[in-house]
Amino acid sequence: MFNFVQGHKKIERNVTLLAALALVTVAIGGIVEIAPLFWIQSTVEKVDGVRPYTPLELAGRNIYIREGCYGCHSQMIRPFRDETERYGHYSLAAESMYDHPFQWGSERTGPDLARVGNRYSDEWHVQHLKDPRAVVPESIMPPYAFLAERALKAEDMAAHLKALRAEGVPYTADDIAKAVQDVRTQGYGDGDTADLARRYPGAQSRDFDGNRDRLTEMDAVVAYLQSLGTQVDFAKAAAREKAE
Ligand code: HEC
Repeated sequence: MFNFVQGHKKIERNVTLLAALALVTVAIGGIVEIAPLFWIQSTVEKVDGVRPYTPLELAGRNIYIREGCYGCHSQMIRPFRDETERYGHYSLAAESMYDHPFQWGSERTGPDLARVGNRYSDEWHVQHLKDPRAVVPESIMPPYAFLAERALKAEDMAAHLKALRAEGVPYTADDIAKAVQDVRTQGYGDGDTADLARRYPGAQSRDFDGNRDRLTEMDAVVAYLQSLGTQVDFAKAAAREKAE
């Protein structure tokens, strides 16, 4: 019979042999973990309802990133009871599959925002962003009143959509051609809102900042916040799961 003690002695005393065998052992683990990734289409399971951001929501998201809101707000509800009871269903990977970069985060000086959409009125958000302590007296969030004063620069939204398409976000040629027009349609709530809702199911079109005369950065940020966590219908998904 092969003498394991003697065999192991040989390996331990020969550095080259030890290194070569260690490499083989580690490589097996590596291949088992990495190789399947080359054959599966995607590591993210698709979920009904998840769609790319509308150009207005995307403009709001860009401002959210520019202002560093992620420094205090995560957008990922973890599957723990205290989190799901406070914020709602835990986050699914598919819900941020079109986020480049994603906004998961781990710092929560403020609450998680993954499902803040439709939780407050537009007026609440506008008031809160202008002066957080006007609505939440103990808040330590800084004010962002200037968002309501700054005109929304949206002429370059087609380029943003194109860049995201290169990353794999399924914007169509039609979406890109209509990007600038879509910003106005959604943010003023007039024009062909039906066409917008057909291409971006569930998109809400209206004046978000309470100022009908012009589109501001506030319109974009509130449109973005109101869309967060609203795409997947968890009640419907739960009912379907029960029926199966
Ligand atoms: C210095 C940390 C900080 C920064 C930066 C910050 N926030 Fe907050 N935010 C908070 C805190 C703390 C709260 C909880 C108290 C409150 O509601 O004001 C909060 C609350 C909120 C809420 C309400 C959430 C809820 O579920 O009640 C929203 C929406 C929000 N922030 C959006 C933003 C946006 C948009 C930005 C960037 C423009 C931003 N925050 C930047 C700290 C921050």
